[in-house]
Amino acid sequence: MTRAGWDGSLLAISDLHVGHRDNRPIVEALRPETPHDWLLVAGDVAETVADVEWALGLLADRFARVVWSPGNHELWTTPGDQVRLRGVARYQHLVEVCRRLGVLTPDDPWAVWDGPGGPVTVAPLFLLYDHSWRPPGCDTPEAALAEAYRTGIVCTDERLLDPDPYPSRSAWCADRVAETARRLDERDPALPTVLVNHWPLVREPTRILRHPIFAQWCGTEATADWHRRFDAAVMVYGHLHIPRTTWYDGVRFEEVSLGYPREWRSRGVPPGQLRRILPAPDGVPPTAW
Ligand SMILES: [Fe+2]
Ligand SMILES: [Fe+2]
Repeated sequence: MTRAGWDGSLLAISDLHVGHRDNRPIVEALRPETPHDWLLVAGDVAETVADVEWALGLLADRFARVVWSPGNHELWTTPGDQVRLRGVARYQHLVEVCRRLGVLTPDDPWAVWDGPGGPVTVAPLFLLYDHSWRPPGCDTPEAALAEAYRTGIVCTDERLLDPDPYPSRSAWCADRVAETARRLDERDPALPTVLVNHWPLVREPTRILRHPIFAQWCGTEATADWHRRFDAAVMVYGHLHIPRTTWYDGVRFEEVSLGYPREWRSRGVPPGQLRRILPAPDGVPPTAW
């Protein structure tokens, strides 16, 4: 069901990391192909609230609709940010900034994309991680974290992503997972979904990480069946900085990250290409970007 004569695409990108000076011109060059295009931004826009507001404001002025899910970097409380908020208060502040810009957040009612490839429910999610994607031989989250410290591969979130007032990021994750599942259960069951989360909903994409032990900061076992349970047409994520297209149980997963300058410079393709989520690309899309 497409509006007569209405073109447009549901596009996506993530990990803009505009705190890196060389990423800013790439963001400034992002433009829709039609006046009807929506843009899904799957987290890690920047570390400071001012940078997040700059990037999302610029995009909101250009795209018919911008949809945002937070990444871990937005939730860092860094010495360079005038906004000293931590944890839940910081997230809620970012939600307010987005609402002022007209950007859809995980705490807003789901939107329906009824352009080409639709109608689908577009659900931005904020789920975090809980150290359940553990390395072999580690039976508990505590053991996984201890092993990470032993090997020296420790996510900066341990220092900068404060879960306040939760006792841990895992506890915050559990609450977000429970509340989000409840809301997804109440969605219109007639429509498939596009699920947008900074972290992948299944563990498989993390298997090719250079340091697999880092997977414990990349998602949660609690969402392993969500792409089937919530009828996902596409799952959009970032965080891994490994842009590619994969399928799990017949569901298309799109890792849409830009990443850091040293990463996009080494890829050999122009940086900042928006990934088409819907309508689905014709034929068999490339599995690596
Ligand atoms: Fe990132
Ligand atoms: Fe990230």
